[in-house]
Amino acid sequence: MSMFFLAFVISLLVAISFASPVGRKTSVCPWNGVSTVQNFTLLAVVKDYPNIQKSLVLGSHDSSTPGCVTWLEARESVDSINAKFFTLVNGGITAYAPDGSLIGVSLPVPNMNGKLSFLYPKSGENASPAEVYCELFNTSPHGVPFPYALAVNDGDSDHFSLCKSNSAEASVVLYNIVKASAADIRSKWGTCADVYIHVLPIVQ
Ligand SMILES: *[C@@H]1O[C@H](CO)[C@@H](O)[C@H](O)[C@H]1NC(C)=O
Repeated sequence: MSMFFLAFVISLLVAISFASPVGRKTSVCPWNGVSTVQNFTLLAVVKDYPNIQKSLVLGSHDSSTPGCVTWLEARESVDSINAKFFTLVNGGITAYAPDGSLIGVSLPVPNMNGKLSFLYPKSGENASPAEVYCELFNTSPHGVPFPYALAVNDGDSDHFSLCKSNSAEASVVLYNIVKASAADIRSKWGTCADVYIHVLPIVQ
């Protein structure tokens, strides 16, 4: 085997191992996106009725103890807000309570019918957020009311839904509801509305 061929094979293997890191999916931000945003809140805006807008928070329900998973949902569907301020660093979201304490780090989002979940780390636990998000900016020359959109899994901002659970009083965000299982989703989640999720930066 020639040295050149060997070098080629080795560089190919290196490229492949970088392309698919095991157990870790990293979002690729498109050209009109950034992967770091200091401090922001999140707002869901219904695509068909843009005057319907819901603040998104991490709620309590039963998941307010360390080690539990919580998820992004409409402010009105939770008894008490656990977190409503977020930071995005290298594509990973961390959620903070109003008092500044860390409440959740982003978990990977399944490519179909996935909730936007967060882990409430136990103290001392490694709390690296899954780096799957980015913020896209709208490039319309006419301007838009909300220029920054949240995107997940390789820059997709177009497939979020806010779905109201039939069993619990919760409206949670789901990513990429697929048509094949729309009936399942509806029986479990009741009504869903397609939404954009907007990033509202906090200017201090
Ligand atoms: C984000 O902004 C809010 C509102 O001004 C503030 O209370 C909070 O401490 C800020 N959080 C971070 C992480 O800077």
